[in-house]
Amino acid sequence: MNYKIALIRGDGIGPEIVDETVKIIDRVGEKFGHAFEYVEVLLGGCATDAVGKSYPDGTAQRCKSCDAVLLGAVGGPKWGSDRPAQERPETALLAIRKDLGLYANLRPAALRPALADACPLKKETAEKGIDLLMVRELTGGIYFGKRDRYQTEDRGVECTDLMAYSEKEIERIGRRAFEMARLRRKKVTSVDKANVLETSRLWRSVMNRLAEEYADVEYEDVLVDNCAMQLVRDPGQFDVVVTENMFGDILSDEASMITGSIGLLPSASMGDGAPALYEPIHGSAPDIAGQDRANPIATILSAAMMFRYSFKLAAEADAIEAAVDKALADGWRTADIARAGESVVGTKRMGEVIRDNIWVQLEGI
Ligand code: IPM
Ligand code: MG
Repeated sequence: MNYKIALIRGDGIGPEIVDETVKIIDRVGEKFGHAFEYVEVLLGGCATDAVGKSYPDGTAQRCKSCDAVLLGAVGGPKWGSDRPAQERPETALLAIRKDLGLYANLRPAALRPALADACPLKKETAEKGIDLLMVRELTGGIYFGKRDRYQTEDRGVECTDLMAYSEKEIERIGRRAFEMARLRRKKVTSVDKANVLETSRLWRSVMNRLAEEYADVEYEDVLVDNCAMQLVRDPGQFDVVVTENMFGDILSDEASMITGSIGLLPSASMGDGAPALYEPIHGSAPDIAGQDRANPIATILSAAMMFRYSFKLAAEADAIEAAVDKALADGWRTADIARAGESVVGTKRMGEVIRDNIWVQLEGI
């Protein structure tokens, strides 16, 4: 089969980690008999520098002509919040999510066996295992509500960010969560702030309705502050965690850290049609950009999700994940996951080792 992939290299470490991932995709193509065509898409701070806006005209169209989108990372201090909105990389990220209708953001956080030591939690907590899937609503809520900034007479400047959710938006993300749970350990935890927010009370009532429909799936409601606490107290209790946009943003960073490094975790953002978008959950790490120090694993695992969900090629996805696990089991470490005294390799070498593991595995078949 032939697949067309839109590549958004982005800013900071984005280009380096995408480069390594593309080499792995091509290696999988050689081994499994697929061909990939890449369409370069300019988005983020680099687009601001090149054409004056972070989300150039036609970006969504270019992506829509592809089967999937792979994104490295966008952002950096050079394009900070003092810039006009159309020059800020984050604006572009939100726009592409919205324009491609990517309302469901899947962020798996699993403790990889070789890295159990990297988990910052107590040993007895880590030993219980961590394998959860954060399902974050991605195109609604406070991220996309009306914003305002105005001068008051007596209180200086005042701003508002509106958080809005409709039943329809909640139901479709809820269904995703329950469907994913059916493929896993059949438990859904819905996270909200129903003791304070009206949007959360609606969220909870829609989720409870769905829980009756998906009676084979265990279900619970948890308040967001409690969830933040439970994630470090006993993360093994969670299977699928579904929540609104901003809570999901915050909790998914927390979930990533308990697995050892934010440099390991992939994500998939999907809507009801193609293409879906795959990206590491970490940012552009401008402080180490261009130094061959970034961990490419989160992007490589994002490509594995792309094979699994967009191309429906499970064996290829398994091969990539196994190649990553073998590299880690063999002791290869980038700086972010190395413990004191362990030797460290750069982005390129880590990519190469993983690539070669895909080769080894297939020879064994
Ligand atoms: C993420 C990021 C983005 C978000 C930023 C860069 C806009 O933190 O993907 O989690 O908040 O969604
Ligand atoms: Mg975030």
